[in-house]
Amino acid sequence: MINPASRLNSIELSLIRKMFEVTNPNAINLGIGEPDFNVPENIKEAMKRSIDENDTHYTPNKGYLDLREEITKKFKKENGITTTPEDVIVTVGASEGLYMCTQAFVDKGDEVLLPNPSFLSYEACVNLAGGTPVSVDCKMENEFKLKAEDVQEKITDKTKAIILNSPSNPTGAVMDKEDIKAIADLSIDKNFLIISDEIYEKIIYGKKNYSPAKYSDNVITLNGFSKTYAMTGLRIGYLATTNEDYTEQLLKIHQYNIACANTTAQRGAYEALTGPQDEVKKMVCEFQKRRDLIVSRLNDMGYETVNAEGAFYVFPKIEDENFVQDAAKAGVITVPGVAFGSNGENHVRMSYANSYENIEKAMDILEGMINNG
Ligand SMILES: Cc1ncc(COP(=O)(O)O)c(C=O)c1O
Repeated sequence: MINPASRLNSIELSLIRKMFEVTNPNAINLGIGEPDFNVPENIKEAMKRSIDENDTHYTPNKGYLDLREEITKKFKKENGITTTPEDVIVTVGASEGLYMCTQAFVDKGDEVLLPNPSFLSYEACVNLAGGTPVSVDCKMENEFKLKAEDVQEKITDKTKAIILNSPSNPTGAVMDKEDIKAIADLSIDKNFLIISDEIYEKIIYGKKNYSPAKYSDNVITLNGFSKTYAMTGLRIGYLATTNEDYTEQLLKIHQYNIACANTTAQRGAYEALTGPQDEVKKMVCEFQKRRDLIVSRLNDMGYETVNAEGAFYVFPKIEDENFVQDAAKAGVITVPGVAFGSNGENHVRMSYANSYENIEKAMDILEGMINNG
């Protein structure tokens, strides 16, 4: 038996994955973190063409230049971020971008501020880099939005970075512009890095996503194609900096780890950005209908639920500690909120990346469960 590296001592495998391994395959799954839609046809066609054209060799480490040019244009037009194709790196999902940022910038003893609750990988990546995660509360009374004043309170002389995620997994919260801007100002005044995970930026209902990189150069923006174009399995994302020194450090991790993202997915990503966006609009419209349904049904059952403004998750307050187990037995898979941090206690994450009909059925099952005590 060979002992694993000590850096793995504090790392646990995901609670969510473990749950899926043990639950009934006929249950309605509200635990999912990916769109239930298929990749749009035009993107599939572009990927098929790329294989037929033998587009299967290494690409530049940072990714195909034409794709990086489109990403640069997208950042300018949609996010107000001025970057260059040289400061864009195409990654293996936003996941790789997150890993690159923490490996490149977090040292042993560095404090990294994390919203609590937040996406599981943040804490794991900070720990893997030897850093110290410091939690910043996202309070239900603020609709789970991260507030600049709560961030400010947690800043010390060891603060190296903060990870922002708006819209948020697991709460669906969309941060307010003034908080984004205030945190961006703090990153300049107090000299820390913002890692802004904007993977859900397009899945947003009647609100606008604001990018901190518009207001500060100490920002690395992460994004990807998994959620917006239902391309989770294709593993393709990107990041941008507005500072070439940051790009060079990030590239050291990317280059020696994966060399480049895969060609087929890069060709699909190019089509995703340059082709029609109707499928995205349709998907977001459908998500909004489901959000309205699930929020109203949960509130009617007496589970206080914020009308989440983005992503495809709700985070109802449910104090019954057996709820997740009982719901799974009754036929509805959900995820305990505590998997996302201590503030997730007494909450359950439910994803509405499942059909309207299935969500209705799932809500009927939960209602029946409550009524039968
Ligand atoms: C907040 C957040 N960031 C990043 C990711 C990872 O995305 P990708 O598939 O691009 O690696 C996820 C996936 O669930 C997520 O919820």
